[in-house]
Amino acid sequence: QEQQLSNGVRRRRRRVVLFSLPFQGHLNPTLKLAALLHAGGLAVTVLHTDFNAPDPARHHPELTFVPIHETPLPDAAVSPDSDILAKLLALNAACAAPFRDALASLLLCSGGHDDVACAVVDGQCYAAMRAAGELGVPVLALRTDSAAALRNMLAIPRLRDAGYCLLPIKEEKLDEPVPGLEPLRVRDLIRVDGCDAGELCSFVASVAGAVGAWVSGVVLNTFEAIEEPELAALRRELSLPAFAVGPLHMLFRRAPAPAEQGPHAPDRSCLAWLDARPPRSVLYVSLGSLACVGRGVFEEMAWGLAGSGVPFLWVVRPGFVTGAGASDGEEAPPPLPDGFEEEIKDRGKIVRWAPQREVLAHEAIGTFWTHCGWNSTLESVCEGVPMLVQPCFADQMVTARYVTHEWGVGMAVGEVVERGRVAQAVKKVMAGGDGAQMRERARHLKMQASDATSSAMDGLVQYIMSL
Ligand code: UDX
Repeated sequence: QEQQLSNGVRRRRRRVVLFSLPFQGHLNPTLKLAALLHAGGLAVTVLHTDFNAPDPARHHPELTFVPIHETPLPDAAVSPDSDILAKLLALNAACAAPFRDALASLLLCSGGHDDVACAVVDGQCYAAMRAAGELGVPVLALRTDSAAALRNMLAIPRLRDAGYCLLPIKEEKLDEPVPGLEPLRVRDLIRVDGCDAGELCSFVASVAGAVGAWVSGVVLNTFEAIEEPELAALRRELSLPAFAVGPLHMLFRRAPAPAEQGPHAPDRSCLAWLDARPPRSVLYVSLGSLACVGRGVFEEMAWGLAGSGVPFLWVVRPGFVTGAGASDGEEAPPPLPDGFEEEIKDRGKIVRWAPQREVLAHEAIGTFWTHCGWNSTLESVCEGVPMLVQPCFADQMVTARYVTHEWGVGMAVGEVVERGRVAQAVKKVMAGGDGAQMRERARHLKMQASDATSSAMDGLVQYIMSL
């Protein structure tokens, strides 16, 4: 592929190879970055797994998509009942050799190392970082979480040695600030409930080891105005360039944005339902593409929503409730509690998947009840929508703390999800003075997000050209 420069000279585009783990929350920012790098003058190949493969027909026509043909994935990688750590470990193991083979044949078929400037790989996929590094390809790690979450992750060995994480922590220690990671308290640190502490440490050590050994820079879907101190600290700690190129979904001025990749077709009927609602009257509820809850929590959420009296749009995806049974697993959403629909009537709308960005941009939305996945958080910030937070695992704990205490644009549902407390929290955030203050701060953050420019992206393209 060639590129025409402004002086009329044609030159061969240098190629970037991208690879993401097959999670919705990782694939979408990766595809957006791919389109933006192409708009910046680079040729782009996206290597991808067969599992959750992106549909090339729906994405940027000038990107090249190549499957890596991983071995059939074990249950641990795909089952809604397995935790995020089990998924990450299984995916790293399954992708290592196929990714290496796919990249090696790309190097053979294209102009080799002269053609391929670098690989931008998922920052959780140490196997791909290592494979690319061993093939002599410069590696950039793409983080789809926040700078604060990455700092927390890299600090885990130090925190473990100091007794701050992974051990059963004493109740009275939970509210202590964590040295070097303020405003995080012990209770806000990355955790995956029920997972083996040793496995989590060895996963983190593998990521940190790969970053230390093979990575020439880190790319983050964040922006300076929201995480300036965290980015500065990260750059110091890693001694690597860190490009804050986000919010990626806001940067499509020069290139068409790739279609969103989702596990289900978005149910657009909810937009017409929102059209009939007054401004800021509806609570949007979604815990992203991976988080699951037990039946008990699901029922408390449902009856809390019913008891609040507030209109709501709720994403209840298939597999959202754990242990729903094999027959419910793939396609059918979990059954709603008995009597729930009769109780809420038209006050609540339930969909299995929503066009989330359009929902958040709709004037009827008052607040977003979110798990604080980083994409959802950024999308809410960019629309100036305050949040009710219910973090479930990993980086979501960290982000929830920033939302509630650093940026002041949200409040917690509470550690214990119980219908009475849920109803109270919903009413408070939708109607109370606190809600109005959060909305005002959210509006300010939205302005800062829309001021984020593509200059970091230009810097990234230049850096890639220099590799
Ligand atoms: C995962 C992790 O959980 C998250 O913590 C990490 O930061 C990124 O990867 P996920 O849990 O899916 O992602 O959450 P999130 O990052 O919020 O991504 C969900 C995406 O799905 C968002 O872009 C959101 O717009 C989209 N979505 C969600 C829909 O389009 N429709 C829906 O109904 C629900």
